[in-house]
Amino acid sequence: MRWVVTGAAGFIGSHLSEALLAAGHDVVGVDAFTDYYDVALKEENARGLDVRRLDLAVDDLELDGVDGVFHLGGQPGVRSFGDVFDVYARNNLVASRRVFEAAARAGVRVVFASSSSIYGDAERYPTAEDVEPRPISPYGITKLGCEHLARAYAQGFGLDVVVLRFFTFYGPRQRPDMAFARIVDALARDTSFELYGDGLQSRAFTYVADGVEAIVTAMERGRGGETYNVGGGSEATMRDAIATLEDVSGRSLDLVQRPAAKGDVRRTAPDTARVERDLGWRATTSLPGGLKAQWDWAANRVAAR
Ligand SMILES: NC(=O)c1ccc[n+]([C@@H]2O[C@H](COP(=O)([O-])OP(=O)(O)OC[C@H]3O[C@@H](n4cnc5c(N)ncnc54)[C@H](O)[C@@H]3O)[C@@H](O)[C@H]2O)c1
Repeated sequence: MRWVVTGAAGFIGSHLSEALLAAGHDVVGVDAFTDYYDVALKEENARGLDVRRLDLAVDDLELDGVDGVFHLGGQPGVRSFGDVFDVYARNNLVASRRVFEAAARAGVRVVFASSSSIYGDAERYPTAEDVEPRPISPYGITKLGCEHLARAYAQGFGLDVVVLRFFTFYGPRQRPDMAFARIVDALARDTSFELYGDGLQSRAFTYVADGVEAIVTAMERGRGGETYNVGGGSEATMRDAIATLEDVSGRSLDLVQRPAAKGDVRRTAPDTARVERDLGWRATTSLPGGLKAQWDWAANRVAAR
C-alpha cells in the first residue's frame, strides 16, 4: 500500500512512517519543517524517510495512487494564547480543511490526529468520546474545529475519516517542548527543570509505539466517521513521573516550581472501551518501561555530543 503521512518529520509522524516502512508499505512523507522547535531535530527525524517539503496551508496535496492519508501535520502545544493563535489557526484549521478536501476529492481515507485537549477539564473521568468537548486552550479549540471540519466534509462530500484523540504521547524523539523531554534533558545535562503548577496534575501517558499501532489499525479497520480515544497504559501525576525518571536515570532532578500554565488541564484519562472494541487495541507499555526507553535515547544523544 502507498500512504501519505503529513507531519512525517515530527515526533509521532516519524515513528509512524518508520513503522509503515518496516511493514513493507510505501510512505510519502509531507512536512513544512516549521520552526516551532529546532528544525535540525525534524531533519534528524526525517533521515531515512522520503519527506517532501510542503506547506499544507497553501500547497496542494497530490493523492494520485495513494491509499490513504495519515494527517498528523499541524501546530501542537497547549500554550497557545496570544497572537500565536494565528499560527494555530493556519497550520491546524486552514491546512486540515485543505487536506480533507483533497482526500474527499481523491476518495481516500484520512486518519486525523486530534487531541485529548478537546475535552478540557472534562465532565467525567475516564472520559468517553461522547462527553461534551470543552477545550480550555486555543490549541484545543483549533483541534476541535478540525474534527468538525472533517465531519462536515464527511457529510457534504463523502469524506472517509477516522478521528483519533491522542493522549500525551511520549518516547524517543518526543517534542522538546513536552514535559518528559524537558525532564530527561535536564537530568542528562544536569540543568534545572521548570515545573508548571503543583505537579499533581495527571495525564494518561501513551508510549509512542503503542500509539502508532492504534493509528495504523484505525486506517485498516476503524469505522468510517468514528472518533476514538487513543491513550493510556499509565495514568500518573507529574510528580510520579519525575520520581520514575529519577529512578530510571539514577539521578536527581533540580526542580524549579512555576505557576500553573493557562490552558493546561488538571487531568486526562481516556475511556478506551470503544477503541478496544473496534480496533482490538490497548496500550501495553508500562510507564517505567517507556520512560527507560526515552531516557536511554536522550542520554545517548547527550553523551554522543
Ligand atoms: N504529541 C502528543 O502527545 C500529541 C497529543 C495530541 C495530539 N497530537 C497531535 O499529533 C500530531 C503530531 O504531533 P507531534 O507531537 O508529533 O508534533 P510535531 O510538531 O513533532 O509534528 C507535527 C509536524 O507537522 C509539521 N507541520 C506543521 N504545520 C504544517 C503545515 N502547514 N504543512 C505541513 N506540515 C506542517 C511540523 O513541521 C511538524 O514536523 C499533531 O497534529 C498534534 O496536534 C499530539
